[in-house]
Amino acid sequence: MDWHEWHADYDVAGSTLARRLRAVQAQVRAALDESPPGPLRALSLCAGQGRDLLEVLADHPRRDDVRARLVELDPRNAAIAEAAARAAGLTGVEVLTADASLTDHYRDLAPADLVLVCGVFGNITDEDVERTVDHCAELCRTGGAVIWTRHRGAPDLVPSICAWFEDRGFDRYWLSDPNADYGVGSHRFRAAPPPLTAGARMFTFIGYDVLEGTQRSK
Ligand SMILES: C[S@@+](CC[C@H](N)C(=O)[O-])C[C@H]1O[C@@H](n2cnc3c(N)ncnc32)[C@H](O)[C@@H]1O
Repeated sequence: MDWHEWHADYDVAGSTLARRLRAVQAQVRAALDESPPGPLRALSLCAGQGRDLLEVLADHPRRDDVRARLVELDPRNAAIAEAAARAAGLTGVEVLTADASLTDHYRDLAPADLVLVCGVFGNITDEDVERTVDHCAELCRTGGAVIWTRHRGAPDLVPSICAWFEDRGFDRYWLSDPNADYGVGSHRFRAAPPPLTAGARMFTFIGYDVLEGTQRSK
């Protein structure tokens, strides 16, 4: 899979990916709108070109309150995210070209107000999805939001993902329509985050194309 090319569908009007982006951005905006006053922290795991967060931050009233770290392995995507952040004057945004699965990349910013896990859960094993949800409880502050995506292809893992979040102290804030051809969820954390586990790997990014050919990227 060419993860730079993967982003091209965002610019195809009406595509599943373009509609999914709107849903994610609406949840990012809602989370920022409802955040408490003062400095905010945001994390994006496997951030790609960062459009979900950066396009919202660009004209959001809280933009200058947000310190964000986008972690993306593909240097082409990281460069595009970096350029977009600079073009928008988002001085609090940092783009790290690195393996987002490693908890150590988040040590100084967790627990954060906003955690994005988009385009990840369709590309890793179910066991790793659950393990990553476990770590989301460490990455997210009390009252913060985790916004995530997962395709709805059979077997539909979205109900299990919701149950895993909700078993770990998250409340369901919003879930995309089950009949939509993508899955987007936003969960808010009501519990107290345990300390971030040092030196842990949350997941191995396998890729939907490799995962038995049965899973999709949305
Ligand atoms: C499906 S795309 C999603 C991108 C973005 N989050 C979005 O929703 O638009 C997955 C991204 O993960 C990146 N990626 C793959 N393995 C990674 C890893 N171990 N650490 C960080 N990024 C990774 C790919 O380069 C790709 O940009």
